Amino acid sequence: MTALLELSAIRAAYDAITVLHGVDLSVRVGEVVALLGPNGAGKTTTLKVAAGVHPVAAGALRLGGRTVNGVDPRDLARAGVCLIPEGRGIFPNLTVRDNLLMMSFTGRPVAEIEEIAFARFPIVAQRAGQTAGTLSGGEQQMLALARGLATDPAVLLLDELSMGLAPLVVKRLYGQVAEIAQQGVAVLIVEQFAAAVLEIADTAAVLVRGRVEHHGPPDLGLRNQLATLYLGSAP
Ligand SMILES: Nc1ncnc2c1ncn2[C@@H]1O[C@H](COP(=O)(O)OP(=O)(O)OP(=O)(O)O)[C@@H](O)[C@H]1O
Ligand SMILES: [Mg+2]
Repeated sequence: MTALLELSAIRAAYDAITVLHGVDLSVRVGEVVALLGPNGAGKTTTLKVAAGVHPVAAGALRLGGRTVNGVDPRDLARAGVCLIPEGRGIFPNLTVRDNLLMMSFTGRPVAEIEEIAFARFPIVAQRAGQTAGTLSGGEQQMLALARGLATDPAVLLLDELSMGLAPLVVKRLYGQVAEIAQQGVAVLIVEQFAAAVLEIADTAAVLVRGRVEHHGPPDLGLRNQLATLYLGSAP
């Protein structure tokens, strides 16, 4: 099966400084790809390129086989590309319900958005009237995911979903992400530390200084490489 999202020899820069030096990555429908790597490797930049919010300097970004270099990020969003940025991407001063209500800009009725969100994350329903900033970290990520699902994504791009969360909470969240993928979404997950995401990933890529150094199944070879990379910190 062909890739839904494909980055081919992607280069990207901030002003004169190139930070991605020819990144190849592809994600198929129903697949979870983990993009791992140390601080400053270019993981977030890769996601931003995929969402069209950071320009491609060279190479090709393809969606469903069509080259979409330079396409407006709003058009990519309409085509089903959903980026959940680092730091949760919710509005902490608004209620949970209003965070969901805002997603009705997509044209989807509020009732339907709530139905999808509450069915997948019952705890979000229980917290509907609460200010989003008062939710636990895990609940905030569920809300961020629920907001993403409101767009009916074909491609879901997740940046450091596990940041600051307890291992058990991360495990549950990734269980949900795996289910979302199985329902026909191409999922690309960025994480600095790998353990939880490798449980659900079909493929893992390790990015080091803007280059994919390893690409393949999340097997022992990959775990060993990560262990070396992080020099003692648990992969
Ligand atoms: N807005 C920016 N302006 C200039 N340089 C930037 C900017 N954002 C990122 N960079 C640089 O680009 C490189 C890649 O950054 P990026 O945020 O993509 O890495 P990352 O792998 O997501 O790192 P982290 O694990 O810390 O989130 C780094 O050297 C970073 O300093
Ligand atoms: Mg990052």
